[in-house]
This record gives sequence, C-alpha cells and structure tokens, in this order.
Amino acid sequence: MRMYDIIEKKRDGKELSREEIHYFIEKYTNGEIPDYQASALMMAIYLRDMTTEERAELTTAMVESGDQIDLSAIEGIKVDKHSTGGVGDTTTLVLAPLVASVGVPVAKMSGRGLGHTGGTIDKLESIPGFHVEISNEEFINLVNKNKAAVIGQSGNLTPADKKLYSLRDVTATVSSIPLIASSIMSKKIASGADAIVLDVKTGAGAFMKELEDAKELAEAMVSIGNRVGRKTMAVISDMSQPLGFAVGNALEVKEAIDTLKGQGPEDLTELCLTLGSQMVLLADEAKDMEEARAKLEQAIKSGKAFEQFKLFIESQGGDPAVADNPDQLPQAEYQVELPAVKTGTISEIVADEVGTSAMMLGAGRATKESKIDLAVGIVLHKKIGDYVKEGEPLLTIHSNQEKVDEVRDKLYASIKISDSDQKAPSLVHDKIS
Ligand code: URA
Ligand code: CA
Repeated sequence: MRMYDIIEKKRDGKELSREEIHYFIEKYTNGEIPDYQASALMMAIYLRDMTTEERAELTTAMVESGDQIDLSAIEGIKVDKHSTGGVGDTTTLVLAPLVASVGVPVAKMSGRGLGHTGGTIDKLESIPGFHVEISNEEFINLVNKNKAAVIGQSGNLTPADKKLYSLRDVTATVSSIPLIASSIMSKKIASGADAIVLDVKTGAGAFMKELEDAKELAEAMVSIGNRVGRKTMAVISDMSQPLGFAVGNALEVKEAIDTLKGQGPEDLTELCLTLGSQMVLLADEAKDMEEARAKLEQAIKSGKAFEQFKLFIESQGGDPAVADNPDQLPQAEYQVELPAVKTGTISEIVADEVGTSAMMLGAGRATKESKIDLAVGIVLHKKIGDYVKEGEPLLTIHSNQEKVDEVRDKLYASIKISDSDQKAPSLVHDKIS
C-alpha cells in the first residue's frame, strides 16, 4: 500500500477502504508517513468529505492508535457526556453528582482547560484539597463505591488525534465535519464509555456558529457512535450568550452547588435536566425521558443530588464543608459592578467576548503553560430578554487587580440594551438520536 495512492483516491472523491484508513493512521502515528502527505490527505477529506463507513473507520483507527481505558470493572452502563465547548458551561460539575445520585455510574476523565476558563479539573481544584491524581484502581473503586469519580486524562489517549489536530490547526482543515466528528468521538470511545451524550453548542460563543452546521456535526457524531457500538444521543443547545450567570472557576463551582440545591440559574438547570435525562435513559435507569427527568428533579428536591456532591468531593480529598459554605472557595479581592447605561431590554450578550474578558482577568489559559486564577471571573445579573433600569447592575467583575478598565470596556461593548421587547433565545434547539 502507498500513501500516494490513498491521497490520489480521496482527491478524486472515491471511498477509502478500511485497510487504507487504518494503514494511514498507524503509519502516521508512528512517524513513517510525513506531515506533508498527511496534510494533503486532510485537505482532500476537507474538500471531498467521507462516507459514514469511512468516518467510523477513521474513528476506530484513531481509538486504536493509543491507550484504551477499560471500565468493565465498573458495574452498570457507563455514560459519558461531552460538550463541544462554550462560555460558562458549568454542566459537568452539576451532572456528575446529579446523575450519580440516581444510580448512573459516572467515571469521568477530564482535562485542564485552554481558553475562556479552566476545564472541569481546574474548576474542581478550586475546592480546597480536591485532587484528581489517583490511580486507575482507586478511580474504579471510587466509582463502584460512590458512583462518581474524576481522573486526569491518560497521556497516551488517541495520539493520532493529537498529531492530526495540530496539523489541521496549521493547514486550514479544522472545520471539516468528518474530521471534527472523528476527533471528538475517538477520545470519548477511547475513554471507555458505553454510551455517550453529546451537547453540541451553537451560536456566537460556539465552535459551530450556525444551527445547520451544529446539526450536521451532531448527526455525524451520533452516527459514528452508534455504528461503533456505543449508544449515542445529542442535544443542540444555545451558546449565543453564556450559560448560567457565572463565568470563572470558583464562581462556577458555587453556581453548580446552587443548581444542585435547586437554586441555580434557569437555563443551566434546564440544560442539566435535559442532558441528564438522556444519560439516565442511556444507562437504562428509566424507561423514557419523562421518567428520567422526574427522577432527577426528585433528586434535587430531596437533597440527594447535593449530598452526592459532598460525598464526591470528600472522597477525592476535598473539603465538603465548602458545599454548605461556598464563601470558603477562593474569593477575588475586588468586586466591580457594571451599571446599565440606559433602561431597556437586554438584546445581546456576546458569549465569546464575555469569555475573553474572563480570560483577561486570569480565569483561563492563553497557552498550556499559563497559570490560572481560580477566584476571578464574571457574574451576570441579567440575561437576554431581561428588563433593566438605568443604573441597575448588569454584572459583577471579580478581579484580583484593582484596575479593570479594559475588561469593563470590553464587557460594555458586548452587551446591548434595546428599546424594544426581546425574547430570550430558546435553549434546546434540537435533539438527535
Ligand atoms: N474539538 C476536537 O476535539 N476536535 C476537533 O477536531 C475540533 C474540536
Ligand atoms: Ca455558568
């Protein structure tokens, strides 16, 4: 087999065989195929697309390029959740204890974040003592005992994807549906999940700005998952404005605690119930979405979900007292309110800009090496569709620097107040299974 022929075949719009796809991934991962040939193939795929079979084979080949996590020692159906990324996305912190509290095992492998705010691990580490440096054995024991645990990502998960993603980043081939779908799904499958719930974001703050593109990506991922034997469902959710009120690590932990107590923001709560119901359903812990949702609502109401959060924190070294007393989380030195400059209805809160503002305060990493400040961020007081009076606070900046002029100007520029009535955007645009 020759790489030249594989490139030529895809260039001419033909379907690659299973053998050709596996040959490429194996030889590219071990360095026998050079970057320039891989680049040519990526561009050919970008322009010519891949069939459903090709997408599934590409995913499987990437899964097999590195470690595959074996979660079979955990009882029950392991369901994982993946979000394509948004601003202030606090869902994982809520969902892990919430679905665990109704009997769904949550074995979560997470990474540190790059961009707006930290990843799930960074956020959890704002709880004093909490750590994810546990052995695989301890991880599995914890999930069996308490139904939920989080561990750092194995270093050798899908090395083919790591290499290809860096290559795509510099060859204008990131935004290709078959390449994105296989990239995301390969990581989820290698992490050992039996079933996968996808949260595909759409809107100004999302990777997929247009609903049609988000739908196409969701359909591609659902199709790959089901084809390789993992039950997969997707929700397409709105990311035109940040999710919930809080954007920032410790601030989002507090928001998650509020939500688990039934006192969280409406949109975050609703999205968690929607995604959580799909997780419960895929785990066979309910006969339909209605029953799944009722179980989750009851877990919040009865305090079971909140107790599960404390157990989860404590079992990984964290101080569970934080749950009753979120004031013990890291606090920023300065809190600066932004008053509305006029009376009207909020018509726009550009998610991306709010995310960038949080990063400028120190909540996110610009590069993998940057240190983040867990205390800082932004708490919105108004969302799109809300009425605001001149002088009423739109949001609070939590900062460890006294001067926040640049961030304040950026935030003012990203929020529009309109004289006419505005509707809140709908949160769940579609569901795909
Ligand atoms: N996220 C991924 O993990 N892979 C892609 O290709 C794009 C976004
Ligand atoms: Ca949030």
